[in-house]
This record gives sequence, C-alpha cells and structure tokens, in this order.
Amino acid sequence: MTTFAVEAIGLRREFDKKIAVDNLQLAVPPGEFFGFLGPNGAGKSTTIKMLVGLLRPTRGTARISGIDMWENPLEAKRQLGVLPEGLNLYDRLNAREFIRFAGTMYGLDSAETKKRTDELLELMDLADDADKLIIDYSQGMRKKTALAAALIHAPRVLFLDEPFEGVDVISKRAILDVLQRLRRTGTTIFFSSHILEVAERLCTSVAVIDAGKLVAEGTIPELRERAQAGDETTLEDLFLRAVGAQNGIESGDSLAWLG
Ligand SMILES: Nc1ncnc2c1ncn2[C@@H]1O[C@H](COP(=O)(O)OP(=O)(O)O)[C@@H](O)[C@H]1O
Ligand SMILES: [Mg+2]
Repeated sequence: MTTFAVEAIGLRREFDKKIAVDNLQLAVPPGEFFGFLGPNGAGKSTTIKMLVGLLRPTRGTARISGIDMWENPLEAKRQLGVLPEGLNLYDRLNAREFIRFAGTMYGLDSAETKKRTDELLELMDLADDADKLIIDYSQGMRKKTALAAALIHAPRVLFLDEPFEGVDVISKRAILDVLQRLRRTGTTIFFSSHILEVAERLCTSVAVIDAGKLVAEGTIPELRERAQAGDETTLEDLFLRAVGAQNGIESGDSLAWLG
C-alpha cells in the first residue's frame, strides 16, 4: 500500500458563517509535481495552511507522509517545508542569517547549517547579496530566500503558495530550476497557483478548487478525457470549464452582449 505524501481527509474550514473550504479530499502520491489551482478566493491558501499545520481545520484532518498533522504535529512538520503566501521574513536579518536561523530551528548543528546555507545561497543565486538586509530585497529575492529556508532540512514534501506571484522572470527561472531539481530527487511538490502556464508545463497532476470545493482532479490527459476534450484543449480551457460548470456559466454565453 502506498503511503501518500499529502492527504486531505474531509478538510473543512469555516470563518464565522463563511465556508472557505468544504469537505476537501485529496491524496497525492510521493514524487508528484502537484498543481493546486483555482481562482482568487477559491480556498487554496486556507487549504495549504491546514495541510501544513498553520491553521486548524473546523473538521477533518491532514496527513503528511502518513503522519497526522493534528495528532502528531511536530513529526508531521518535520517532513515538510513551506513557502507561505504572505512572506513574513525578518526584515532586519540578511538572507544568510535568515536561512541559518531556519536550520537552527530544525535542530541542525551549526557546521551543517553553515554548509547547507552556503550551498542554498549559491543555488538561489543569492550569494552576492547574502549580507544585505532582507528589507532591501526585491520580491523575487525574498521568495528565493524563503524557499532556501524552507529547504534547509531537506523536506520530503514542499508546499509553495503562489510561488511565482510578483516575481521577476529571472527569479522565476531560478525557482523553477530548483523545483525541477528537487523533483528529480523524489521530493513531492505541492504548489498553488491561479496562473496556469507553469502548471501546464510542469505538473504531473492537478486539482482545481472553486468556492471551497474540489471541481476537478487528475492528470491533464485525464481531465481532457473526462471533459471529452481533444488533445489541443489547454489546461486553461479545462480550468474554465471546471470552474464555469460550478458557477453555472455556459461557455460562450458570457459577454454575448459585447457582440
Ligand atoms: N482569516 C480569514 N478570515 C475570514 N475569511 C477568510 C480568512 N482567510 C480566508 N478567508 C476567506 O476564505 C476564502 C478563501 O480564501 P483563500 O484560501 O485565501 O483563497 P485563495 O488562496 O484561493 O485565493 C475567501 O473568501 C477569503 O475571503
Ligand atoms: Mg491564496
């Protein structure tokens, strides 16, 4: 029996009266490059926060490599790294200090922390700026710093919430290269996006969430088959169909008044 890298088991989260995520069921096998897609406000960040132990579900639970997040949080969190949505980095530190701090938090000794920090700075192309304060960094540099910090303990599962949001093309390329390299080492990558271009190129499978509910899941060819769409159908078309069907929008119907 496979142990899934990431499992969502009946995850639900309410905020006052609003249901942000409703009865979400997911099972991601190890080694996948998994795209968690959906429009703004769909519930992606809320789901990721529940999966990584930052937000308590109203109902249901999450497992990372088979370990229940809410029964055994320390052990579950040791398996994962996360690039969160709002980057809350310590502006008064430089990148080198921030990444080392993450290593210390995960209990690495100082020699190992130093070695890995230097390698990660190199990998992210941050070595030349490593002694500048994070407050003076661009968004792309901040994301790379946060990604380096998320990787220092060599997690088996990496979560990234909108990793390419507001990132310049050079940093985007650097992040993509790192992700592809990680994938070759067997790391499971779970990333959210409302932009489909990267997902189409890289993902081995995707799930689409809309208004808190899962509306499609599978590999891109599987989604095509289910939608009875041809090989040329893009992920964007499939996405719009999945989300549109949920909202009762007939394709071709909207904006008809524009002529
Ligand atoms: N802390 C919160 N308090 C109240 N409502 C929230 C909170 N966080 C998220 N929501 C609501 O839950 C829904 C899903 O949000 P979110 O998970 O951030 O979506 P996404 O990441 O897909 O854009 C939205 O309607 C959002 O306004
Ligand atoms: Mg979000």
